[in-house]
Amino acid sequence: MGDHWQDVAAEADIPVGGMQAAVVDGRRILVCRLREGLFAVDATCTHAAAALDEGWLRGYRLSCPLHGAAFDVRDGRALGPPAFHWLPTHRVRVEGGRVLVALGRA
Ligand code: FES
Repeated sequence: MGDHWQDVAAEADIPVGGMQAAVVDGRRILVCRLREGLFAVDATCTHAAAALDEGWLRGYRLSCPLHGAAFDVRDGRALGPPAFHWLPTHRVRVEGGRVLVALGRA
């Protein structure tokens, strides 16, 4: 985990309530836009590795499509079973209308 910022999307392509999956340094991540800003988390559920980009984002709550666990994308916290481990979070910033992500805790 370093300061390798990678371009993952155009800012305009992620509306409020939307999310965009990308691969950063070989790791699948998910960028989510809330009213309060952009947040990046791992795109793989900590329960049984389902793809969270196939789930649902409602407010800050990201729900897994496989068994229904939910996470808070602002800090990665697991909000209920069957997932107990938090989602890793990553740093995200906007530069020149592009969304950049660097692995490692925000
Ligand atoms: S894989 Fe996500 S809740 Fe089971």
